[in-house]
Amino acid sequence: MSRKRVAVLISGRGSNLAALIRAARDATYPAEISLVLSNRTEAAGLSIARTEGIANEVVDHTVFGADRSAFERALQQALDKHGVELVCLAGFMRILTADFVNHWHGRMLNIHPALLPAFKGLDTHRRALEAGVKIHGATVHFVVPETDSGPIIMQGAVAVREDDTETTLAARVLAVEHRIYPSALRLVASGRVRMRNARCQISDAVVPAEEFIVPKA
Ligand code: GRF
Repeated sequence: MSRKRVAVLISGRGSNLAALIRAARDATYPAEISLVLSNRTEAAGLSIARTEGIANEVVDHTVFGADRSAFERALQQALDKHGVELVCLAGFMRILTADFVNHWHGRMLNIHPALLPAFKGLDTHRRALEAGVKIHGATVHFVVPETDSGPIIMQGAVAVREDDTETTLAARVLAVEHRIYPSALRLVASGRVRMRNARCQISDAVVPAEEFIVPKA
C-alpha cells in the first residue's frame, strides 16, 4: 500500500508536527509527511522540518493583506506542487475560507486542545479550569467551515487535578495530543474512517470498556 502524502500546516512550536514525524518514521505507518507549511517565517516548527530533511515552505499571510483567497491559492499551489493527499492542521492559527475547507472535505484534520464540542476556540485550558470540569482532553476532527466543529475522529482525556494550573493542565493534554494525532492520522490514512453526516464511523474500532471517573470517591 502506498503511503498517503501529508502536509502539516503550522504557525508555531510544532510539537504535534514532531509527533507526526516520529510516527511516520515507521515504514508500516500509512502516511508520510511530505510537506510542512507555515504562515509565519519564525515558526519554531520549521526548524524541526529542516532538521528532519522534510520539504518546508512559508506562505506569509501578511503579504496578502485581507485577501484570504489569494493566501489560500498560494497554500493550494504548494500543496499541489508536493502532491499532497491529506492535510493536518497542527497549531495553524489562520481561519480558512469555506471554499478552501470544502475543497479538502474529508481530507483535512485538525487537533483541538479540548473535548469538543466543549470549549471551542482559544484559551481552552483556562476555560476548562474556570468551568470546573473534572475531565478534560483533546480532539482530532475533520475540518468543516465552522471552526472546531467537524466530525470527531478521536479523543483523549485527562483527569483535572485540584491543584492544576493552566500550565500543568496544558502539559498533560499536550502529551495526549501527541498520542492521538498520529493515531487518528493512521486511521484516516489507512481508510478506516468514514464520514457519515456529522459523525465518523471507524471500522474495527477498539473501544476500551473502562469507565473514567474523576475524582475517585
Ligand atoms: C496544540 O495545543 C493544538 O491542540 C492547538 O495548537 C497547539 C499547537 O501546538 N491547535 P504545537 O505547535 O503542535 O506544539
